[in-house]
Amino acid sequence: MIKSVTVAEVALPEVVVVGHFQNEDLLATLPKRAAWADAALAAAKRGEATGEAGKIAEAFPVGEGQPQRVIVLGLGKRDKFKPEGLRSSFAAVVRRLGTTKQTQVLLALSPALDFAEASLEQAGRACGEAAGLLAWDNTVFKGKATDKKERPALTLWGDKKGLVKGLQHGAALATSVNYARSLSETPPNIATPAYISELAKKLAKECGLEFSVLRGKELEKEKLVGHINVGKASENEAHFIRLKYTPEKTGKKKDKPAVLIGKTVTYDTGGLSLKVNNGMVGMKRDKDGGCAVLGAMHAIATLIKPDRPVVALLCSAENSISDEAYRPDDVLTFRNGVTVEITNTDAEGRLVLADGYCWACDKEDPAYIVELSTLTGGVVTALGSTYCGMFCDDDKLRARIEEASGVSGERVWRMPMHQEYRDMMKSPIADILNSNPNRKAHAGQGAAFLSYFVKDGVPWCHLDIAGVHVAENDGGAFVKGPNGWGVRILADLLAQE
Ligand code: BES
Ligand code: MN
Ligand code: ZN
Repeated sequence: MIKSVTVAEVALPEVVVVGHFQNEDLLATLPKRAAWADAALAAAKRGEATGEAGKIAEAFPVGEGQPQRVIVLGLGKRDKFKPEGLRSSFAAVVRRLGTTKQTQVLLALSPALDFAEASLEQAGRACGEAAGLLAWDNTVFKGKATDKKERPALTLWGDKKGLVKGLQHGAALATSVNYARSLSETPPNIATPAYISELAKKLAKECGLEFSVLRGKELEKEKLVGHINVGKASENEAHFIRLKYTPEKTGKKKDKPAVLIGKTVTYDTGGLSLKVNNGMVGMKRDKDGGCAVLGAMHAIATLIKPDRPVVALLCSAENSISDEAYRPDDVLTFRNGVTVEITNTDAEGRLVLADGYCWACDKEDPAYIVELSTLTGGVVTALGSTYCGMFCDDDKLRARIEEASGVSGERVWRMPMHQEYRDMMKSPIADILNSNPNRKAHAGQGAAFLSYFVKDGVPWCHLDIAGVHVAENDGGAFVKGPNGWGVRILADLLAQE
């Protein structure tokens, strides 16, 4: 769409964008003396200027001191308007500009958005995000046989301070989301656990985070048996990756870290319980929980800078097949002493995540844990791509996550946890099974399994992102492909600290 977005003052705007609420007279919300006011009114008279959210109409003024293009952006009905809605409506403007050579853009939105500073900032943020997200480069793996189109590098500015501040925040946040998307897009022959480890190390160095990694013998020493077993069949050995952000002024009350855990399975063949009927295609994205956590750490270290330490744990392995693969019928003893009978090697995510939860509870003294994983097809059946499945019985943490969700627009829906789901996981020979062969409540089974690895009293939240981590179609602020789901909700969660 576009090459990049910079937020900087534009001396002579080539494009001016004004907002127009449905059924309102544009004249009432135009800056009276603006040179381009007449052009805006002309655009608003055009048939396409319906004022519906995301509808645009244009005019091309001529004359000294005039921008080359005035865009009237529909904002929908005023009483229904939410600043977050601008993420997709402003995306229409960015997409339009992606087809032009005009790059210097002034957002003259404040007359229409006659709001308090805070809402104006939110509106700016949504626009900044939209532009930033549309600047994601999805042509990295295009080669000599494709002609790459040149894309314009946009400079955006707003007509009010709050708007500008929001633009800056949104564009910066989008950089972190795009980081996650690019890693998600990287194919499994490149993005191995070792590759992700190196990337995390580089990120840590650039952003001033602590970095460490456990692999091979170290995994054995720390009894991270999920990693050892899931990763056994692959030449690309498993890595348990840890990053830590420490606030500059050591917060007195907030010394316990928030722990973010990400499923980072670089490829999921299903293992010996091999995926069939082409169910394997796309499983390079089984690392998207970890990608989101890495992207969030980027945002946390460079933009959010919360007053609380944050630990990131990436549970990374490739679930492959060979004569050394772990098998259905194996029994594994986890770090916390819980024994697991393997019934299905395709339920591998929960095994590496169990290591993550054990480690977090044992070693990190967490204030709370939030974990993201493409864990089950079941959650896709239940919620489609509309909501992420949220399993969290801690009222305080859940309320905070719901609030963050409202800001980021990454929707979560609460799913139930119950002792009966935990009972479904009981094994006749070990403590628990990794999957009950009964095809009931798959998403809930995943959460129930994980609960066996969380220490009592630690607030935790499992977000099953299997349905939401990919944009199926081109639309709004996203192109078809990975959308970096989770980066913004995690950043917004930590922004509360
Ligand atoms: N990575 C998959 C889940 C998944 C499915 C993610 C579709 C994205 C899209 C996970 O490891 C898996 O295979 N889950 C199984 C669990 C079952 C064997 C208990 C599933 O959901 O079918
Ligand atoms: Mn699987
Ligand atoms: Zn998986």
